[in-house]
Amino acid sequence: MCPVAVLTLTATEVCAMNSFILRVACVVLWLPGLAAAASTAQRELADVLRATPDAVNGEALFGHCASCHGADGGGVADGSTPRIAGQHFRALAKQLVDFRAGKRWDFRMEGAAEKHHLTGPQDIADVAAYVSQLTRPDTRGIGSGEFVEKGSRIYAAQCQSCHGANAEGTQEGVPRLAGQHYAYLMRQMYDAVDGRRPALSRLHSKRIAPFDFEQVRAISDYLARIGWQGGDSMQTAAPKPHPAP
Ligand code: HEC
Ligand code: HEC
Repeated sequence: MCPVAVLTLTATEVCAMNSFILRVACVVLWLPGLAAAASTAQRELADVLRATPDAVNGEALFGHCASCHGADGGGVADGSTPRIAGQHFRALAKQLVDFRAGKRWDFRMEGAAEKHHLTGPQDIADVAAYVSQLTRPDTRGIGSGEFVEKGSRIYAAQCQSCHGANAEGTQEGVPRLAGQHYAYLMRQMYDAVDGRRPALSRLHSKRIAPFDFEQVRAISDYLARIGWQGGDSMQTAAPKPHPAP
């Protein structure tokens, strides 16, 4: 297979292939590529954090994001598109930079975050600042409710030291998880374990890897139900998805 074809596959697919040559190609092509992407992303994130956000430009740029994430930034309740409204500025900025640098993979977001839409660090800062200030809609996708207690116990023991007692995240870049859509949280956990989120530390993925299906459902349902504000609004109503874009 020619290197161009190899590069069009995801790294996990290439490295999972049962071929010695492809495994060598994986080490030669992918690892240095990721290292280069890491330093590009670090530099760009530093520039974003230095910028002074412009709310008017942020709102204008958000028009494109709204076509998928909804006019209120609430995402889609089935979890196909995450809620971004009210996420911390730094967490938003880091994800946008990672999608641009090939450190996080999703063809829709890679397109939305590329230079054609967000020309540079100033645009990223503007749109991230705008999104971080959006009111957090209360309706979200939730699970069956069977394992919420279990999810709460696992979360308290293994996740809250970083993500916060109410899964509110931090301004220093740990994402808010409370009130995110159930199915999105589940997908991110499986993506992390399967190596599809290379920017998440190995330690983070190893923390999640031992969980069985029920435990992943338990944590995701607990987090979705505690709501954006954290603990103050247990939601049981059926989620209302946004109309298709
Ligand atoms: C074509 C649809 C589409 C557009 C347009 C789009 N997004 Fe996304 N976005 C997605 C999807 C789908 C995901 C989830 C990707 C995944 O599953 O990893 C996502 C994920 C994200 C995430 C990661 C959220 C998290 O919790 O880690 C952020 C941040 C984000 N988008 C911000 C934006 C911003 C800002 C814009 C506008 C500049 C935008 N998106 C435009 C579809 C879109
Ligand atoms: C040592 C600190 C730490 C611990 C403990 C931790 N996390 Fe995280 N988590 C992070 C950071 C930092 C990120 C953002 C990484 C990035 O930049 O993409 C993150 C990201 C995530 C994401 C992706 C969020 C999104 O919006 O895409 C999920 C889901 C998640 N963590 C779940 C968990 C769960 C579940 C646990 C407990 C089993 C846990 N984390 C424990 C620090 C931690």
